[in-house]
Amino acid sequence: MIILRTPGEVELLREAGRLVARVLAEVQQATVPGVMTRDLDALAERRIREAGAVPAFKGYRGYPASLCVSINEEVVHGIPGSRRLKAGDLVSLDVGAFLKGYCGDITVTVAVGGSPDPVAARLLEAGRGALAAGIDAACPEGRLGDVGAAIQRFAEARGFSVVRDYCGHAIGQAMHEDLQVPNFGPAGRGPVLKPGLVLAIEPMVNEGTFEVESLEDGWTVVTRDRKRSVHFEHTVAITEEGPDILTLV
Ligand code: MF3
Ligand code: CO
Ligand code: CO
Repeated sequence: MIILRTPGEVELLREAGRLVARVLAEVQQATVPGVMTRDLDALAERRIREAGAVPAFKGYRGYPASLCVSINEEVVHGIPGSRRLKAGDLVSLDVGAFLKGYCGDITVTVAVGGSPDPVAARLLEAGRGALAAGIDAACPEGRLGDVGAAIQRFAEARGFSVVRDYCGHAIGQAMHEDLQVPNFGPAGRGPVLKPGLVLAIEPMVNEGTFEVESLEDGWTVVTRDRKRSVHFEHTVAITEEGPDILTLV
């Protein structure tokens, strides 16, 4: 069932979105060479709970942490642990939380130490721009397929690929609600986008092949060719006026 949110619910989703954006900004600041990924998770969980919110990932299908930390060839769902980040690593940080019963979900990928190599810089720009292009396409009376088409066009025009096996999703009182948001495919297809629809749009853009596989930990998704991947995500409400990004500080 596709759920459309009232303006009041969109404001609650904005509160949750603002919280995860703030938590992510702080975690991003702490993403420096030498930090252990489990310390980033602890920081995220502490800040979420201090705000009276609940981590959305911890316990979700048994996921053990409040933050996903996916490094270099890891695409999504990396589990924080005793690994230490090093300068030049491309690290995606995905945070989700429920505040007053409504969920915010946001991801950014950063280069540890702040100076990506030239290919990494282009990959980051492609991922960031693909998300922006997808959001721009999330207009009322457009179609869901327009979002994925815009993402795919942007990333592939820069010589990169988009992951097929994982999608964005509708979001509200659950993290993953009905309606998958693919990051590829033809424009002009799929459900018509209506005001009140709230989507987590989250392209995963790969340096090489779009193909991915899962590691034995049951969570970590990596690229088949072990080349790097970036991931960017915002929670976005569709309004009469166009897309409204809820995950802003
Ligand atoms: N936040 C992820 C998403 O963007 C889902 C993480 S599920 C978890 O959809 F269990 F890995 F945390
Ligand atoms: Co997410
Ligand atoms: Co998501």
